[in-house]
Amino acid sequence: MPDAFEDADLAAYYDLINDSRADTDFYLGLVLSADAVLDVGCGTGVLLKEARAAGHRGRLVGLDPAEGMLAQARRADGVEWVRGDLGTASFNAEFDLVVMTGHVFQIFLTDDEVREQFAAVRAVLRPDGRFAFETRNPGARAWERWTPEHGTEVVGEGGERVRVEHRVESVVDGLVTMTETFSSPDWPEPRVDRGSLRFTDADHLDALLRETGWAVAERYGSWDRSPLTPTSREIITIARPGPGTG
Ligand SMILES: C[S@@+](CC[C@H](N)C(=O)[O-])C[C@H]1O[C@@H](n2cnc3c(N)ncnc32)[C@H](O)[C@@H]1O
Repeated sequence: MPDAFEDADLAAYYDLINDSRADTDFYLGLVLSADAVLDVGCGTGVLLKEARAAGHRGRLVGLDPAEGMLAQARRADGVEWVRGDLGTASFNAEFDLVVMTGHVFQIFLTDDEVREQFAAVRAVLRPDGRFAFETRNPGARAWERWTPEHGTEVVGEGGERVRVEHRVESVVDGLVTMTETFSSPDWPEPRVDRGSLRFTDADHLDALLRETGWAVAERYGSWDRSPLTPTSREIITIARPGPGTG
């Protein structure tokens, strides 16, 4: 999605808009069974906060470049919140699990950017660690539902009603470019952000993983761990360092 949530005001609506998440149990189970966990693009930190509340006793680190999102995350203690990305952070082979949730993976728009991310995740992970992330399956054509009729309305902490709508501008070679509009009867004008997401199929994803030294340990098509099919909504991957890498 566009990066409207960098804005501290709009970041306050993120958890309200994404309030019934199907991915929580899946990722929470992984986090609770790992000691040191890095959440890349942690946003408002919802996953790590839940893990701490559920009794995780190890190290939890949330990394995100958007100050607005981190301001929401920092409302909770007990997690290291770090501003930045894998290019700026100075971690070294210290995590048992790296997660990238909420389709953060789709922000990386070229093969080179993805290779950089995969290599960087490898560098912060212990040799026996795992990397879990998902990307929307292009076969499910999610962008066809990103229309104003499918907008969402939430009520902010101040009682203001806010509506969020998406409009797709183009779909070219797996790159979906869209606008995200926030509007409220209480605001003088709507706030519009524009951005692109990349849709990658499983074969191409796996080629990029292999090139960067990863092996796919588990693969699912939805959060209930059912297998990937051509029209599954998600391509969910748990990867581990491949043989001969390290
Ligand atoms: C859709 S939100 C997902 C947040 C969170 N992972 C979740 O599941 O709710 C995407 C997040 O990716 C962050 N982001 C943008 N560019 C990034 C980058 N290069 N590295 C890591 N995170 C990035 C944004 O700031 C935003 O918080």
